[in-house]
Amino acid sequence: MKVLVTGGAGFIGSGFLNLSVPRYPQHQFLNIDKLTYAANPANLLGIASAPNYAFERVDIEDSVAVQEVFVRHVPELVVHFAAESHVDRSIQAPRAFIRSNIEGTFNLLEAAREVWIGPGNRRFHHVSTDEVYGSLGESGLFTEATAYDPSSPYSASKAASDHLVRAYHRTFGIPITISNCSNNYGPRQFPEKLIPLMLLNALERKPLPVYGRGLNVRDWLYVDDHCEAIWAVIERGRVGETYNVGGHNEIRNIDVVERLCHLVAEETNTPLAELMQLITYVTDRPGHDLRYAIDSSKLSRECGWSARETFDSGLRKTVRWYLENQAWVDQVRTGEYRNWIDVNYEGRGSAS
Ligand code: NAD
Ligand code: DAU
Repeated sequence: MKVLVTGGAGFIGSGFLNLSVPRYPQHQFLNIDKLTYAANPANLLGIASAPNYAFERVDIEDSVAVQEVFVRHVPELVVHFAAESHVDRSIQAPRAFIRSNIEGTFNLLEAAREVWIGPGNRRFHHVSTDEVYGSLGESGLFTEATAYDPSSPYSASKAASDHLVRAYHRTFGIPITISNCSNNYGPRQFPEKLIPLMLLNALERKPLPVYGRGLNVRDWLYVDDHCEAIWAVIERGRVGETYNVGGHNEIRNIDVVERLCHLVAEETNTPLAELMQLITYVTDRPGHDLRYAIDSSKLSRECGWSARETFDSGLRKTVRWYLENQAWVDQVRTGEYRNWIDVNYEGRGSAS
């Protein structure tokens, strides 16, 4: 089978390819990626020379380039990860999110519509987020029937892309599936996201900037469990359906940061108090969703998926990976990264 993966040089896409390329030698994988700041070819070193893997630098905003890839490669399976993914960046500069996440998805769907003519066993799998549902209060879970209510430009752009994907199924018969997943963590995550940012700051004894009072709740899932869920949906999910993916790890941000401090203290023989005193409450994110929690029972029931990693085991693996991969860390913390940290945290006063 010919598989087109978009955004495969990013955090989750590279996790997916590192798992899939050796496991499915009979499939031919083509990874197209724009190589934005969030991409890292070093994420793919383990598979770069595999005979069933190829890479092309393609911007999915470029409709001509996308169509050309479809005509030349004629993929039977598309796994669409490519997106601008960071909520805080979407607040600072939303345009790139509209272009990549909405127009880019539109270009892929149009190319599929033009090339997927006549009978064939095909699938367009769209990787999406639980943030399309907005925020939960103190209780309840997101199900696939929860109404869309996105809060940030990022989540609104992902909601729009979900709607386009479903519309291309209903209107043009494109065989689609969608997965809406909660917060991922694990190796190779760009250190703008909560867990790697806090981890690397703790290792350098820099402040740990917790938004507001740290009481917002996220439902954490180890990246490999997400990648297995995507295969479960591709192989056993029903065409036209949406599946929620989550880890039943609802944890307040402040508790995540404290757990990280404990782990770093243990793994690096550092006094815990030295790390805990780095916790700094800063001005909250505008439109900050209070709580995410996922009901993934449809995915378990229909596709037989369950998470393998607990939060404690996954977090320890993650801490060890960053400790053992200093060269990767040094390489991603380039000038662009430092600029972003300056822009995002400069002027964020302490939380009142
Ligand atoms: P990431 O930011 O680490 O990587 C995104 C990748 O997409 C990068 O390699 C980037 O170069 C590429 N890309 C961006 N714009 C592109 C364009 N116009 N053309 C081609 N490539 C482009 O993101 P991630 O965390 O790996 O997320 C991957 C997908 O999973 C996204 O669609 C995101 O919305 C979704 N998702 C992420 C999470 C999470 O917790 N990180 C959770 C649920 C869903
Ligand atoms: O829920 C899935 C989503 O999870 C994905 O769709 C997004 O692509 C991904 O970025 C992630 O979004 P979040 O906004 O939840 O992740 P982030 O790591 O940015 O923040 C997690 C929580 O931590 C959130 O409540 C904000 C808070 N936070 C974040 C940063 C970067 C802080 O308190 N301090 C920080 O410095």
